[in-house]
Amino acid sequence: MAVKTPMLEELVKGVEEGLLPARIFNDPELFALEQEKIFGRSWVYLAHESEIPKPGDYVLRYVGNNPYIVVRGEDGEVRALLDMCRHRGMRVCRAEMGNASHFRCPFHGWTYRNDGALVGVPAEREAFGPSFNKAEWGLYPIPRLEVFDGMIFGNLDPQAPSLEEWLGDIRWYLELITKRSSAGLEVLGPPQRWVVNTDWKLALETFISDSYHTLMTHRSLIELGIAPRDAKYAMYGEQVHIPGKGHGSMVIGAPPGAKLPPFWRYPEEMLERAKASYPSREQFEVARETRILLITVFPNLSIHNPIRKPDHKYQGAVPMLTFRVWHPLGPGKIEIFSWALVEKDAPEWFKEKTRLSYLRFFGSSGTFEQDDTEIWSLVTQNAGSSQGRGLRLCYRMGMDLTPDPNWPGPGVAYGINFTDANLRNFYRRYVEMLLS
Ligand code: FES
Ligand SMILES: [Fe+2]
Repeated sequence: MAVKTPMLEELVKGVEEGLLPARIFNDPELFALEQEKIFGRSWVYLAHESEIPKPGDYVLRYVGNNPYIVVRGEDGEVRALLDMCRHRGMRVCRAEMGNASHFRCPFHGWTYRNDGALVGVPAEREAFGPSFNKAEWGLYPIPRLEVFDGMIFGNLDPQAPSLEEWLGDIRWYLELITKRSSAGLEVLGPPQRWVVNTDWKLALETFISDSYHTLMTHRSLIELGIAPRDAKYAMYGEQVHIPGKGHGSMVIGAPPGAKLPPFWRYPEEMLERAKASYPSREQFEVARETRILLITVFPNLSIHNPIRKPDHKYQGAVPMLTFRVWHPLGPGKIEIFSWALVEKDAPEWFKEKTRLSYLRFFGSSGTFEQDDTEIWSLVTQNAGSSQGRGLRLCYRMGMDLTPDPNWPGPGVAYGINFTDANLRNFYRRYVEMLLS
């Protein structure tokens, strides 16, 4: 049981009142508590299976501040091994990605097979004697590792519930993406990565709930004719949260009467495949009417799948799909891991166009992302300032709304996206984990 500090007490009350202390976005003490209570016990997204298709393929990823080598062994099994030599603690993997049958520690040369077994110790007999048993000195595997539709998650808590239970009803929304084709997804290259002076929660807020910011923050894109001017477009659609889990989704369509290219404007052949591959009729119907889909899985994975302008006057615009992890580095500091993905069996011309669409709009070079990160950094600075720390911020949008009884999907849905409902649900779960 965590000690209820004044800040935690303020947070508990604040979630219900829709008033959150600004300093939660820049506070060393809270950062340390999050590492233990949130990142020490949550299912954290590590990698997509398509990043490591062949035996020996590996990528280096993080859960909290712990580096893990996510590697496919010669036996085809995916493991996540703590990148810390069992001898004296050195990192044994010196590249962010690659293919290796073994990892050799650069300090004294202990050598591990890609399933983690220690197989080589220089001068083993002379140095450690006959009683030394290499079998006891393999790399530590992550306590839990599970996969959902190609998405690899890890958990530091051996007692954690299953990934399936953790995800709960957000799976219905994830499937709109993971099951658009029975062939599944593949990454379009390694993730783009960059460091931003902000807090992981602040970045995530935009993706879980804040369509309200688009009209102002991304105004330049409206002026260029790339995003729609009318507020109705940002408002319209459903905002859905999964109670008790912290997850949320925004399913944005087009206002009644607006011209909407169905199914994100994916090519016709992909629409046909989706019809066959979605688990339910309801999912297909929802997907067909969707223009922008955002999903956030508690704690720090967000997914964005937009086509920009409903009347798609913008030449050659095709939808893009990005997965991103808001990886906390320190108080007020994150590293963003951002992947572009596509259906494995999409036409080649589409794969190339969707990659360009991603690069232009999102990612470190994307126009949207640059607008956002500038704002997140300055909010974070204020949150750490002597005056700002004491202020409470407004999370009261949509407090009087009632749920939409006609929404066909699971979770609690509101028929408008101008609401902080998903945020209040996210922070309710966040506080609950900090206190348990
Ligand atoms: S620390 Fe790795 S071999 Fe010594
Ligand atoms: Fe934005």
